[in-house]
Amino acid sequence: MKNDSTTREHWGGSLGFVLAAAGSAIGLGNIWKFPYITGMNGGGAFVLVYLFCIILIGLPIMICEITLGRKTQKNPLGAFLAIAPHGTSTTRSIGSVFLLIALGLLCFGKFGLGLIFGVLAAFAFYFGWGSIGLVGVLTPFVIMSYYGTVGGWTFAYFIKGITQQLNISSTVEAQNIFNSFALNPFVAVFYQLMFTLLCGFVVWFGIKNGIELASKFLLPLLLLLLILLIMRSLTLPGAAAGVRFLLSPDFGKLTSEGVLIALGHAFFSLSLGMGAMLTYGSYLDSSKNIYIASLNIVFLDTLIALMAGLAIFPAVFAMQMNPEAGPGLVFQIMPVTFNAIGDNVGWLWSSLFFLLLFIAALTSGISLLEVCISCLIDEFHFKRHSAVFGVTLLVSIMGVLSTISVFDWEKIPWLEKIFLFLFNSTDASFFDAADNFSCNYLLPLGGLGISLFVGWVWGTRYAIDEIRKGGEQFSDVNFFTLLAGLKDDPNATRDSHSLTLGVILGIFIRFLSPICIIITFLHSIGWLKF
Ligand code: PHE
Repeated sequence: MKNDSTTREHWGGSLGFVLAAAGSAIGLGNIWKFPYITGMNGGGAFVLVYLFCIILIGLPIMICEITLGRKTQKNPLGAFLAIAPHGTSTTRSIGSVFLLIALGLLCFGKFGLGLIFGVLAAFAFYFGWGSIGLVGVLTPFVIMSYYGTVGGWTFAYFIKGITQQLNISSTVEAQNIFNSFALNPFVAVFYQLMFTLLCGFVVWFGIKNGIELASKFLLPLLLLLLILLIMRSLTLPGAAAGVRFLLSPDFGKLTSEGVLIALGHAFFSLSLGMGAMLTYGSYLDSSKNIYIASLNIVFLDTLIALMAGLAIFPAVFAMQMNPEAGPGLVFQIMPVTFNAIGDNVGWLWSSLFFLLLFIAALTSGISLLEVCISCLIDEFHFKRHSAVFGVTLLVSIMGVLSTISVFDWEKIPWLEKIFLFLFNSTDASFFDAADNFSCNYLLPLGGLGISLFVGWVWGTRYAIDEIRKGGEQFSDVNFFTLLAGLKDDPNATRDSHSLTLGVILGIFIRFLSPICIIITFLHSIGWLKF
């Protein structure tokens, strides 16, 4: 296999890589979504299950993605093709199954899903295993279209905050402010475009001078803002109830649905299942320890999610707001909560909070763009700047449609008609459809594809070989020897048949992670009920 390690741009160091990858992982998922799904699923018990999912499934798949990227030094499509350049009887069989499903769906008038399965079948026939990578490159387009919309809202709210337009005392008022986007969706479109352009601006400068530099500056800033907000929130009278809500598990409130939500969210939050970590891993050189880097990324992502909970719930409880407010928790409850603190600087807390959200969204948006850009550069020989231009333009157009669709579906009648034809309904806007399709279908399927590919097609043996570079002591040392702190003891056994971290990883990748993903996926499409 050709290895472009010498010509490819690389991260300046391990820290740069970890911060950039953590920047991708830490996003709206941590600060906007995690608190509200925790609120809706019973607090502490949900948090505990989420932690299990992160460690048992998220971490192994994160290691897989980074390893595949570093080994091949390529974008997701190129990475899969580099390991398995040709279709096999297995990929052709999968393609045939997809084709049959597509035909079945078309016969029953389900044109939208039928078309999607048809495209997947064509990919499987044409690209073989490469289709997993190709889907990974297309997924960011879908995610970024609505991520940009919410990213734009955070930007708009930050501006509203500092211009003192968020001094509101009731949730009705907050709702009116939010809905005022609907009267003039061009304001929301403007902010969404600004957000996308800013992401494009960072990736324009490449890996070291763009993404790494921005992450090194933005992530510490994010941490600082979060600490400030936590201090404010925890010092409010009555804050303890919020902390208790977040940290004390009440298993009575946890449903099986909640368990599956936790697993799905682990994927979204860690940016897994779509080639983001793979792409970032492709800019890593072989001297770096993948275990340690992955552990750090997962740790930072989880820490920030928990910290966001600590910033939000104590304030929400102290101000007697409803912690189960759902997706509107952040945009409609937080400004009112901060305003209710009544120290005349509520607007400042609101501004800081939305700046925090904006930064989190920005570093994730950057990674979404970079996946597509790296594919254009590697596979289609684009220059970085033209790739950035093309991808930003395309993402902006999709984003505009998504933003308008949230408030004013009727303004884009042709898109509504296409939706009606494809899905027999216009209940969900383009925004909802992109969110639902990417989180419930594309990410779990992508994660499944990646773990099956590494575990069964590429082979854990080769993956572990790659991880050994820069992390030998971790791959081969006996797990219990490591736990006991004996890894440097020359007398500790180094028996390749013992339970090493490598062996544990292999078992996870080949069996445990795929099975868990299949269960989640079947549940999210309603074929499996508990
Ligand atoms: N991890 C990001 C978040 O938590 C979302 C994301 C998903 C970013 C996939 C990149 C890739 O918000």
